[in-house]
Amino acid sequence: MKALVLAGGSGSRLRPLSNFMPKQLIPVANKPVLEYVLENIRELGITRIGLVVGGWADTIRGAVGDGSRFGAEITYLRQERPAGLAHAVRLARPFLGDDDFAMFLGDNLLPDGVAPVAADFLRGRPAAQVVVHKVDDPRDFGVVELDAAGGVRRLVEKPSRPRSDLALVGTYFFTSAVHRAVDAIRPSPRGELEITDAIQWLLEDGASVGCSEYGGYWKDTGRADDLLEANRRVLEGESGGVAGSVDAASALLGRVRIAPGARVVRSRITGPAIIGPGALVEDSLIGPHTAVGAGCRLRAVDLADAIVLEGTALAELPRTRGALYSPEAVLTASRAPAAAGGTAGTGGSATAATKAARA
Ligand code: TTP
Repeated sequence: MKALVLAGGSGSRLRPLSNFMPKQLIPVANKPVLEYVLENIRELGITRIGLVVGGWADTIRGAVGDGSRFGAEITYLRQERPAGLAHAVRLARPFLGDDDFAMFLGDNLLPDGVAPVAADFLRGRPAAQVVVHKVDDPRDFGVVELDAAGGVRRLVEKPSRPRSDLALVGTYFFTSAVHRAVDAIRPSPRGELEITDAIQWLLEDGASVGCSEYGGYWKDTGRADDLLEANRRVLEGESGGVAGSVDAASALLGRVRIAPGARVVRSRITGPAIIGPGALVEDSLIGPHTAVGAGCRLRAVDLADAIVLEGTALAELPRTRGALYSPEAVLTASRAPAAAGGTAGTGGSATAATKAARA
């Protein structure tokens, strides 16, 4: 079996951050979302990966390399414009040949892995195996309707009036039967070749489509709120440990990891939190659910529920909750987290600023 990972797209919901980097490389608990995906694939024992990339091809290639770090060989497949998930399958045909393949969206986080879904697919080898998860508001997702026997009856992309609460998780398994479907469908009203339309085509053509309900944690990290929620969730599993230095005037409370070469000076850090390699935190209050990337420099800031990307410098920042900081841009959460362990969201509407918090 091969794997196809989709890391093109436009990332418009993560602007302005996505103006400066591909969204698949935004870190959750200091690790890019795309790396979690590649680890999911390694766990399945798949060693041949096609990675679909768009305008950020060189940046992604620089970060991920040839795949050897993930025990795999990566073939980069260039998509000239984000024409849809089924379009990505079309252009990957020469790489995929007639092999079965697992398809992953490069911005979907599944830290608990997908081994049970792969087992479901291999048991019956349907033309397509989809994965669903119940969500409160499925309007942003592909939605699956099941029949009384639990079989897939219909798939609809981002319906305004969903007829089920089962959202499509960004992992699929296919046999080569899907290629006829992606060649047959036409662009949707939003101008994309939709993978949901291709799977619907398979259903109508009489092919078998399996469905697994996902039991683990899943997050589509398409928006700032999603990234922050995923960051909180993954940090909950952090065990802490100090490899860097913490001066006598500082305090670490709870599970805090200080990576090698990081320095904490006259600061108080409340876990779960991680401070990346070589970062400097001084005269600051760092609250729960915060991940500070490698080489960051934080002085006199009061942050919690935050993602600070590698190499970001922040200074004199009054109390802020729920934000992502990169060297070039800031994204703030649009809503308060449901349960963020004592942190409060910023509330209000979505705001985004460029270079607002540069030190
Ligand atoms: P989406 O999040 O659905 O699309 P997008 O990246 O264009 O984001 P936005 O809606 O915020 O503008 O894409 C899911 C994943 O698939 C993501 O990793 C990008 C990737 N993708 C491609 O590789 N090619 C495509 O044509 C599309 C639409 C997405």
